[in-house]
Amino acid sequence: MAVYRIQQFVKAITAKITEEDLALINKYLNHSEIELFNKLPIYDRKHSINVAKDIMREVNKESFNKNNKDFNYETLIKAALLHDIGKSYKKLNPIDKSVLVLLNKFTKGKLKNYSNFKKIHVYYNHGEEGYKLLKHKNYSDKFLGVIRDHHKRDISCDYTKIIKEYDDKN
Ligand SMILES: [Fe+2]
Repeated sequence: MAVYRIQQFVKAITAKITEEDLALINKYLNHSEIELFNKLPIYDRKHSINVAKDIMREVNKESFNKNNKDFNYETLIKAALLHDIGKSYKKLNPIDKSVLVLLNKFTKGKLKNYSNFKKIHVYYNHGEEGYKLLKHKNYSDKFLGVIRDHHKRDISCDYTKIIKEYDDKN
């Protein structure tokens, strides 16, 4: 577990956006979404890109579109790219994030009682913050639900489950 955290930290501070990443963003996000996306710290951008890339590698577009009528493949990739957009509201750097992860561990989850601290608030509430950022725009309830619920414990929506699965791997 500790090694995994260190790997995650190194990944975060060395994150780079490549030409290939930019092409992916331009393909799946529109102009205003790109503007919003670019407000995320670079390591959160890279994380979201990696989630999207993993999904593209492992989820077959044709069969996904055939089996899901209310959520197409493009929307799934868009959700992957935007799932952490609530973090743009208050930036967490990799050190803050590592400290929060450790504090959370040592306090056995009691840390969330201190959510009046903005950074802690974002760590726990970025799903809700992302939802608030996007809800007045033209997204389906399903799409907004994925953004809002991707860190919740009991997830019933299959699309949210996919995002959470690949989020956890990145
Ligand atoms: Fe998240």
